[in-house]
Amino acid sequence: MSPEKQEVRRERLKYILFVIILCVLLGFGIFTIRKRNTDPNVTPIISAEETTEATSPTEETATETAATEVTEETADTSEPATEETTEETTEPTLPVGAIAAKVQHLYVRINHTQRIELELPPGVKQNDICWSTDDPDVVDLAAGQVTGLQKGTCTVTASYGDEHVDIPVTVRELTIKNGITYVDGLLVVNKSYSLPRDYDPGLLPITEEAFDVLAEDAAKEGLELYIGSSYRSYDFQQKVYNSMVSGYSKQYADDLSARPGHSEHQSGYSIDCNSIDNNFAETPAGQWLAAHAHEYGFIIRFPEGKEKITGYAYESWHIRYVGIEHATNMYEQGLTLEEYLDVKSVYDDAEEDTEDETEEAEENDTPDEE
Ligand code: DAL
Ligand code: ZN
Repeated sequence: MSPEKQEVRRERLKYILFVIILCVLLGFGIFTIRKRNTDPNVTPIISAEETTEATSPTEETATETAATEVTEETADTSEPATEETTEETTEPTLPVGAIAAKVQHLYVRINHTQRIELELPPGVKQNDICWSTDDPDVVDLAAGQVTGLQKGTCTVTASYGDEHVDIPVTVRELTIKNGITYVDGLLVVNKSYSLPRDYDPGLLPITEEAFDVLAEDAAKEGLELYIGSSYRSYDFQQKVYNSMVSGYSKQYADDLSARPGHSEHQSGYSIDCNSIDNNFAETPAGQWLAAHAHEYGFIIRFPEGKEKITGYAYESWHIRYVGIEHATNMYEQGLTLEEYLDVKSVYDDAEEDTEDETEEAEENDTPDEE
């Protein structure tokens, strides 16, 4: 073979080899892209816009990068994004902020129902929430309504998508012994629950001893706290209440003073500190009492802003002994005794009172104006 022919042959072989290598590379490229579209471990082909809503900020950035890469690669192929993969990313997801309960802990009595109020992100409704409990023997759940079934504790969970909030629940039991009402062992006396006329314990030693320690510790801070009023008998309370009715009005008396049989002072667990004065709350002693009473087992029984729940005007000076554990729970959770025990404080004749109040106001208007 002539040298010219040999040269032509070599050139042809080189050309064929080049075409073969090109085909192999092209085939490998198509195979890789197809595999990436179907591999569950690899981000599916979707646009960045579609991914943004469905992911957290960190995931979003990663997904956006992956989506851009893949979109560029697929520009060389005729494969569009599949419907199947798009559907995966359109499920509703909870906006950042999640759900929260308005109460730290729910207290509900047996056969009573309390509603758990939630704080929800915009666009999420109460009906979207799934509710569950870890002990269906303790509570019954109907959406956010919790009914106590038996004394005990459990956790109620409110969930939406991947988000959830756990709410501890305590179911309490009300008992009546010798005409005295107790909820989980704590004596209750308010507008709804009364004490027998002959219940006459005096100031209980447990109350007095706890107060003495409290007063001693306050004294170490240079503050004076003393007993202004403590135990009051049924008959004495009658005089206190009646004088307020005759001096002002029945409604005025009911806002500030308990009717006989309904005063906590008759229980032996209550003390009015220092002189009964609306300015007490602003004094160093009043402020120290508000901040530390729970450490000695006392609660500020009629707090400011909870008048509709306790049934009485704010009394910064009136403390009630409940023991350190209960007092601390109530202090930390910002609860009144009524909320903590799930009881009301309303006189049986409350509706009549409203009518009386109107009549009294009308009667009192004329003399006042004169
Ligand atoms: N001042 C409170 C309400 C009482 O009379 O017991
Ligand atoms: Zn009092």
